[in-house]
Amino acid sequence: MILILLGAPGVGKGTQSSRLAERLDVAKVATGDILRAAVREGSELGKQARSFMEAGELVPDELILDLIGEVLASPEAADGAILDGFPRTVPQAEGLDALLRKHDRSLDGVVVIEVADEVIVRRMSGRRVCDACGAVFNVHSDPPSEEGVCDRCGGALRQRSDDAEDTVRHRLTVYRENTAPLIEFYDARPVPVHTVDGDQPIEAVEGDILANLGR
Ligand code: AP5
Repeated sequence: MILILLGAPGVGKGTQSSRLAERLDVAKVATGDILRAAVREGSELGKQARSFMEAGELVPDELILDLIGEVLASPEAADGAILDGFPRTVPQAEGLDALLRKHDRSLDGVVVIEVADEVIVRRMSGRRVCDACGAVFNVHSDPPSEEGVCDRCGGALRQRSDDAEDTVRHRLTVYRENTAPLIEFYDARPVPVHTVDGDQPIEAVEGDILANLGR
């Protein structure tokens, strides 16, 4: 199964892709997570991506398509993948088509998660991410048992540098201009596009996605 999770920053793509990957036993491929790891490691990719990410801008398409090409060819993605945060532009979606053809694979569906902008801005102010294992919490809706400490591994929880309110609002504009047009792009293709209300409890959003997928 190859599934795309589409939606503005903060709608819950990362939260849902982790749950779905486990449930469906396929790989989670989150370009944002891969890029943040590259920035932490100081790799060439990380050096090139860093300034775009901190400003809430998109990283250039060529870098992302190289990255996805490697991931799709890897054994981890052999049984399928949930694509979280990719594609994000029409050229990336066209690049994905070409890569899928090259690997003789096809897209099974697109899930669009919708949440109002003001809910997103509040959510992002409460997001905390574990430095060590990447687990995501929210001080408003999904707090850790002990403030600042990861329930899963005991690591330190921090705010993402691109979660400042101004940067979040800029990321929402970037989403509307570059990524939202992908909904029409996929609507015009023979691939099912499912729209889900992301402003419900996490379990209910997951349930709606699975119901749409017939699981
Ligand atoms: P990326 O990491 O992909 O960020 P994003 O798309 O902006 O999405 P987020 O991770 O902010 O939010 P999410 O939808 O995953 O929500 P989450 O589950 O965490 O990208 C970061 C940057 O990398 C980009 O700005 C760009 O620079 C670059 N980049 C990445 N991919 C790229 C690409 N393909 N092309 C070019 N550049 C790229 O949830 C958010 C919070 O809400 C959490 O605290 C969570 O606990 C909480 N929450 C989740 N669901 C619910 C719920 N139902 N109710 C209440 N709270 C909830």
